[in-house]
Amino acid sequence: MVGAFGLVPTMGALHDGHASLIRRARMECDHVGVSIFVNPAQFGQGEDLARYPRAIEDDLVLLESLGVDVVWTPSPELVYPTGYQTWVAVEDVSRPLEGIKRPGHFRGVATMVAKLLNVFMPNRAYFGQKDAQQVAVLRRMVADLNFVVDIVVSPIIREADGLAMSSRNVYLNEDERLAAPVLYRALSAMKAKFEGGERNADSLRAAAVEILSTEPLVKTQYISVADTDTVEELSEVGAGALLSAAVTIGNTRLIDNIIL
Ligand code: PAJ
Repeated sequence: MVGAFGLVPTMGALHDGHASLIRRARMECDHVGVSIFVNPAQFGQGEDLARYPRAIEDDLVLLESLGVDVVWTPSPELVYPTGYQTWVAVEDVSRPLEGIKRPGHFRGVATMVAKLLNVFMPNRAYFGQKDAQQVAVLRRMVADLNFVVDIVVSPIIREADGLAMSSRNVYLNEDERLAAPVLYRALSAMKAKFEGGERNADSLRAAAVEILSTEPLVKTQYISVADTDTVEELSEVGAGALLSAAVTIGNTRLIDNIIL
């Protein structure tokens, strides 16, 4: 693609997961833009907006070393000025899973990403598989609202012990950090069961419950076997299905997923 512009939207506190998206954009596009904005609209009452990690100095050093051409770090007042009243609601696909635990979250995400697509007008926009439902919501939005952009989705980058990288991992204390990889182990057990021939979704969910219950610090919010595009729960599992789970460990909420 000649003259292609690639956009990587982020909320900052950048880690190797973000860097993998930026490196890919760097390889596939002539120019790369990154946005850093902790979007208040996607945080609910009682969520971690105030304490969400902010590391703008380190982030800018990293972005420079990755060869990013333009970085946008708007203030909340610029993004949502007085009188702001327009919202993008992607309906059905926003409702289950994260939508139940975080009401209004995807309305905030979809609105912000729609604004970023209008501000940057990128040819390609890069997102991580880490946030699988976010990807489903944004694909639906781009199709429904005729955005002229390719959505590119990159694999989940993990720590050596399997924990998916996340800006929120810094919240974990030592014991919680040791417990956290159980989430990926539970999803991997579901995948192993599928690969062993199991097609019943409840049997897969049960395999994850069993593993998660071995960690007393971990409280399960949901374990899901769903269609990757619609995020509707399945009873029969096939290749391409989305295995996802959300847990809390202490005050920290973690999500992870595997696509079969
Ligand atoms: P944020 O959580 O900062 O994530 C920015 C992008 O990095 C998202 O597309 C996310 O899926 C991806 N990402 C995060 N951890 C990853 C990992 N371990 N491996 C691969 N990719 C990873 O997601 C958001 O910000 C916001 O909702 C945003 C899209 C910026 C809208 O405000």
